[in-house]
Amino acid sequence: MVLINENYNKLEETYLFTRIAKKRAAYAEAHPEAEIISMGIGDVTLPLCPAVITAMQQAVQEMADAATFRGYGPEQGYTFLKDAIREYDYRAYGIELADDEIFVSDGSKSDTGNIGDIFSVANVVAIPDPVYPVYIDTNTMAGREIKLLPANEANGFCPQPPEWHADIVYLCSPNNPTGSVLSRAALEEWVAYARREGALILFDAAYKAFITDPDVPHSIYEIPGAMECAIEFSSFSKTAGFTGTRCAFTVVPKVLKGRDSEGREFSLNAMWNRRHITKFNGVPYIVQKGAAAVYTDEGRQQIAEALDYYRANARLIKQTFDELGFTSFGGDNSPYIWLKAPNNMTSWEFFDLMLEELNIIGTPGVGFGNQGEGYFRLTAFGSHENTAIAMQRMREYFSTK
Ligand code: MLT
Repeated sequence: MVLINENYNKLEETYLFTRIAKKRAAYAEAHPEAEIISMGIGDVTLPLCPAVITAMQQAVQEMADAATFRGYGPEQGYTFLKDAIREYDYRAYGIELADDEIFVSDGSKSDTGNIGDIFSVANVVAIPDPVYPVYIDTNTMAGREIKLLPANEANGFCPQPPEWHADIVYLCSPNNPTGSVLSRAALEEWVAYARREGALILFDAAYKAFITDPDVPHSIYEIPGAMECAIEFSSFSKTAGFTGTRCAFTVVPKVLKGRDSEGREFSLNAMWNRRHITKFNGVPYIVQKGAAAVYTDEGRQQIAEALDYYRANARLIKQTFDELGFTSFGGDNSPYIWLKAPNNMTSWEFFDLMLEELNIIGTPGVGFGNQGEGYFRLTAFGSHENTAIAMQRMREYFSTK
């Protein structure tokens, strides 16, 4: 019989969102009349914007004609999309990138998970707690030593650089799950740490479109010196509703170096390129055309309206929690609201109460790590109608408790 990767035995039995989906399905089966409102997984509600749809329809027409049909494209993404990314995601913030420093992919989930392919299992990895489960799970699968960086109320859910050495550090800002953001000063400290320690920062910027505070960088490369110590992940999922369409991009600067056990230096950009072209055949042309339309004048305006729609939900959720006297965090530069469960309830106790008494699905904070125990994450990605109904249910239930 084939030998298995025994590191998988160290994982939680089920991926967090799968466990929640199963609980929801079991409840729905037992209570078919329940009108369950999902504020759990951060999935968007609004359809793709008209600019994206038009561009994708035109791309379909091109694919229907032998003269304009396209087969395999460049694995790293088409230049028309990478040019727009360079202009609007980077040059707009004073950052110059070369075309071959950008890798278009099918998601930041995949890229933050797959990036480990180019690193030795001997690296010590620092990961915030609580955190998006993919960072922990993929490093557990690989068998790396993981050291946790506690993120809690005391540090505003923004872990400081530790006293100890790490080779790789995962950071996510705006943060999933806590909704906290790393200020310019906080990021400067992390970049200084990485340069001092020879560490590499893996910076997940999937939620950057929600930033409104001018003191919060949209890219880690806004910090001087970050090009030499950071890889950055961005996504169209939350920016432009591509959760089902799949398109993202990862920046691996060419100055980034790693070393082998004999001290010889290697380009991380060249290694990621090698990995990417070996295991990935590129995002479909039609999808990349849609993603490029996000950057047109029309697209940017339509995206801004969608983001405002979700921001209004976040405000309503925060306002309701304030009125109920709950302690909550996030929701300002982020679609996530991190609620402290009332009456010292555990995360899963609160999850069950919300599901059974209010028919609302959220995400138990402990599912993101032990420091998340006693917290509960809600997303602002629902419809206005459902968000308003959910908040009304909360008001009715908790104002009498
Ligand atoms: C979440 O709810 O944490 C995200 O939607 C999951 C993801 O982006 O993969």
